[in-house]
Amino acid sequence: MLRSLPLSRSVSTLRSAKSQLSSGIGRLSPHTFSCGSGSFLTTTCGLTLLDFTSGIGVTNTGHSHPRVVAAAQKQAGRLVHGQVNVGYHEPMLDLIDGLSEPAGPLACMASPSFLPGPHADGGRPHLFFWNSGAEAVEAAVKLARHATRKQGVLVFQGGYHGRTLGTMSMTTSKNIYRAGFGANLPGVLVAPFPYVHRYKEHLGGGTEEEREERTVDFCMAQLDLVLSQQAPASDIACAVIEPVQGEGGYVPAPASFIRRLREWCTKHEILMVADEVQSGFGRTGGWFAMDHYGVSPDVLVFAKGIASGFPLSGIAAPGSLMNTQPPGSMGGTYAGNAVSCAAAVATIAAMQDEGMLANAVARGEQLRGGLAELQKRLPIADVRGLGLMVGVEFEPAAGGIAGAVTQECLARGMLLLQTSVYDTVRFIPPLNVSEDEVKMGLEIFASSVDAVLAKKK
Ligand SMILES: Cc1ncc(COP(=O)(O)O)c(C=O)c1O
Repeated sequence: MLRSLPLSRSVSTLRSAKSQLSSGIGRLSPHTFSCGSGSFLTTTCGLTLLDFTSGIGVTNTGHSHPRVVAAAQKQAGRLVHGQVNVGYHEPMLDLIDGLSEPAGPLACMASPSFLPGPHADGGRPHLFFWNSGAEAVEAAVKLARHATRKQGVLVFQGGYHGRTLGTMSMTTSKNIYRAGFGANLPGVLVAPFPYVHRYKEHLGGGTEEEREERTVDFCMAQLDLVLSQQAPASDIACAVIEPVQGEGGYVPAPASFIRRLREWCTKHEILMVADEVQSGFGRTGGWFAMDHYGVSPDVLVFAKGIASGFPLSGIAAPGSLMNTQPPGSMGGTYAGNAVSCAAAVATIAAMQDEGMLANAVARGEQLRGGLAELQKRLPIADVRGLGLMVGVEFEPAAGGIAGAVTQECLARGMLLLQTSVYDTVRFIPPLNVSEDEVKMGLEIFASSVDAVLAKKK
């Protein structure tokens, strides 16, 4: 018999509902969020928290940006679901136009490698939309395998590509994502990622430039070893890289590595796939991190920030590559949902009109500058990042404090996440965060580290 849901729930019912959620979900806070605005979230208990997680790099325009909300509301009133295997819908076509503007989000796809580029279509990349980042990564791998008729998938140590069966097999940031869930997808090969700070202890010191050069040389030599030890190039369909590793510790790859990887992929006829699920959509101060490197991947994977919180992901590739797929081989019930696409169109417009990319650069500098100041007196080993994708790695001597620091930040009113197997926290504010909010975040962080260290004494 149908029963209507209670309008208000007692605290005990809420507790019971919470305990019914899968124990497999890790969670930073016990709070229930009731609303969000800009850089802040409010809980059902009336607490207001400075959100420097942005829902893990999703609400890049801030919580419930009025333009995004209005566009989604309008679209929901017209058409919610225009199934992609049944026909087209307008928001998706508008989104393709918005993404393809000459200086727009997909400008980095202008000149891919050994493939006849998107130039054939007047420089416009071809697109496939899906829902989650992991789905889009798998779409990229399927595209590469099908187009090259090769199976191998090369990934980089510390990378994160998702939790589905396929993408967990490509993920090496932490073994919790794979442990007990095997067998993994066959054909995945792993090469070292140029994590300059970490390789210092193995490759020696010197200036930052010298350490970077040695790390890049080492990683390039290891790539060649993959070809002679793990699989020949004739068996490898694609190399999938996060230009800035997210779950691996907010580690930007040196520009020289990304450029040399591009050349290496071209030389060996291996497709270069940039997984920009976390680093994309303005997060680094460019539309995509690849903009900073001046390199075009063969396939770009995007998700998270594109629709400010509505589920939407996808891949972009030259037509010559994308159109190798026979009709019917791609698609999915909710692929490129109409409301999500309308939210994405509004997200692009809001980012452009409100100068969010430039703000990400300026506020990123402010944040890294403030953290570098704190590094002078706190046990911080490394402050790194691009734009508003900023990581702080604590010194090993601090004894593993990142988790305690995030809990202390929470107690003091700020949401901050850990990342990677190393003792690291990550700052992911919205791209329209204000100077005062960054200042507030720095103050909460500093007092939290002080409090954690004081408790350890
Ligand atoms: C680089 C990267 N790729 C893929 C994914 C998976 O995305 P989703 O959680 O939407 O499946 C993530 C998620 O954090 C990510 O950071």
